[in-house]
Amino acid sequence: MLRKTAKYYKGFMLFVILTPLLMILEVISDVIIPTLMGNTINEGVLTGRIDLVYKNGIYMIIIAVLAFLFGGISTYCGAKAGQGLGKNLRLALFEKIQTFSFASLDKFEVSSLITRLTNDIEIVSNVARMALRITIRAPFMFISATIMAIRINTRLSMVFLIALPVMMFGIMLTMKFGIPKFRKFQAKIDRINARTQENLTGIRVVKAFCREEFEKEKFAGQNQDLVKTALDALNLMIIIMPFMMLIMYAVIVAVLWFGGNFMLQGGMLAGDLFSFILYVGQILTSIMNIAMILMNFSRAKASLERIFEVLETESEFVESIKQGVSEVANGEINFNNVSFKYPGNQHFSLQNINLNIPSGSTVALIGSTGSAKSTLVHLIPRLYDVFEGEISIGGVPIKDYRIASLRDQVAIVLQENTLFSGTIRSNMKWGNPQASDQEIIRALEISQAADFVLNRPEGLSAKVERGGANFSGGQKQRLCIARTLLKNPKIMIFDDSTSAVDMSTEAKIRVELNKFNPDLTKIIIAQRISSIQNVDQIIVLDNGRISGIGTHAELLEDNRIYQEIYESQQKGMAAG
Ligand SMILES: Nc1ncnc2c1ncn2[C@@H]1O[C@H](COP(=O)(O)OP(=O)(O)OP(=O)(O)O)[C@@H](O)[C@H]1O
Ligand SMILES: [Mg+2]
Repeated sequence: MLRKTAKYYKGFMLFVILTPLLMILEVISDVIIPTLMGNTINEGVLTGRIDLVYKNGIYMIIIAVLAFLFGGISTYCGAKAGQGLGKNLRLALFEKIQTFSFASLDKFEVSSLITRLTNDIEIVSNVARMALRITIRAPFMFISATIMAIRINTRLSMVFLIALPVMMFGIMLTMKFGIPKFRKFQAKIDRINARTQENLTGIRVVKAFCREEFEKEKFAGQNQDLVKTALDALNLMIIIMPFMMLIMYAVIVAVLWFGGNFMLQGGMLAGDLFSFILYVGQILTSIMNIAMILMNFSRAKASLERIFEVLETESEFVESIKQGVSEVANGEINFNNVSFKYPGNQHFSLQNINLNIPSGSTVALIGSTGSAKSTLVHLIPRLYDVFEGEISIGGVPIKDYRIASLRDQVAIVLQENTLFSGTIRSNMKWGNPQASDQEIIRALEISQAADFVLNRPEGLSAKVERGGANFSGGQKQRLCIARTLLKNPKIMIFDDSTSAVDMSTEAKIRVELNKFNPDLTKIIIAQRISSIQNVDQIIVLDNGRISGIGTHAELLEDNRIYQEIYESQQKGMAAG
């Protein structure tokens, strides 16, 4: 784990090295001071040599200033290194998520990805900062202060050497019970983040259903649970901490007791006892620090594991991201015995699909909800990979294309589409960064969006709010179509993309599209038969299988499912 993390210190290595180096200098200064103090008392104060007190006093000030400087710079370097690690990890994580396939995106929840990007990285970066200092400082301090103490008085050192195992026992106890408690706490934070995220994305639905109270209660319950777990972890600390303090003070009292006796017997000088106590303080503090850093390590380890779980998710497309065929020759699509199931699912969502869609033709997919229409079209630009069989475009298997070229030339207007905050222009350029205003307006004209865009005084600079919230459903759909058109693809897929557009506008879009590029292969998923009657081929899907392929007239003749859909829609029309 540590080795894996080391590579993310890139660009901050200098700080990673400087922090512990300076730390060692600080510890050396810290360890010299008590001896100097003891000397001053023994040789200056007790004998009345005021000049020695002055001299040592000046030394002490110099060393203290040095310790302060070393400590300060080391802290600064540690902060730099910790933040650097955070920055690199955050960037790597974000980049990784961008390469995720739809399948990987199904695996990780959005809220959990956000927690990993923010909370987990924050914890790791903080612990890294601390670790660079304390993992060096505490053991180094412990060893040097112990040596100094033993040098002053070996017999007196026995006192705290006896106390050590007791403290170690206390620390081990804390670790054993504390670490699982902190883990649990982390998991609960994750859950509450997930809850908040889900509520906030669906807040409008919550309001429409008047479910605020219900949501509030659910949240309150989880919040309470979180507090309970946190208190549970803290309670342990509350018990352990005074226990450790008790031992610390007991050690100091014992040292004073025995040391006092030694002094009275004439075996020890007051200054030595004084510096001895200072060393005991340093030793005990470093033990506490070691315990603390171990606790924090285990917390950071949980976070690191969660970060690396994302970083190490294999992208199915690694090799085809950069290499492969980059030009789609034409818009012909072939499905050869394709089957597909979602990762983690037992059953197949699509089975034995065989299709030939000639270049430049218009094809419609129809079928009841859940019949896998969206699933089928997602396979064409490789949003998901087929499980069995093969899909080829323009005579080339889709696996052989560069993924970016494939997705540029096979453009899909997703069923659940979204706009990004910015302007209409920035959203359109998102489809094609090189698009000129003229091209954008042309695309808007084809998708029947020009009217409502250009009627606004700001025109293309009109503001788009997050998710396109300031546009109606039908407007959003038309903007999404325009954005996709700007990619100037060879194949265009509309997944229920005109469901919120009235029928005459829908027909206009169709006519304009044909005028714009007669060679464009179009796949249209529609609910209404009336809107696809005139296409070249209609594919009827039923529960993941093809039930029939033909023209409207042919299917009406011999496909039962198609007849049923048609009749129910005719009846609906008559009733309406
Ligand atoms: N990400 C996913 N993970 C697992 N199963 C999924 C996923 N998406 C869809 N499914 C399942 O695959 C099947 C087909 O879904 P799909 O979205 O393709 O249907 P559809 O025909 O597009 O329906 P609709 O007309 O409602 O859009 C459904 O049974 C659905 O539960
Ligand atoms: Mg669908």
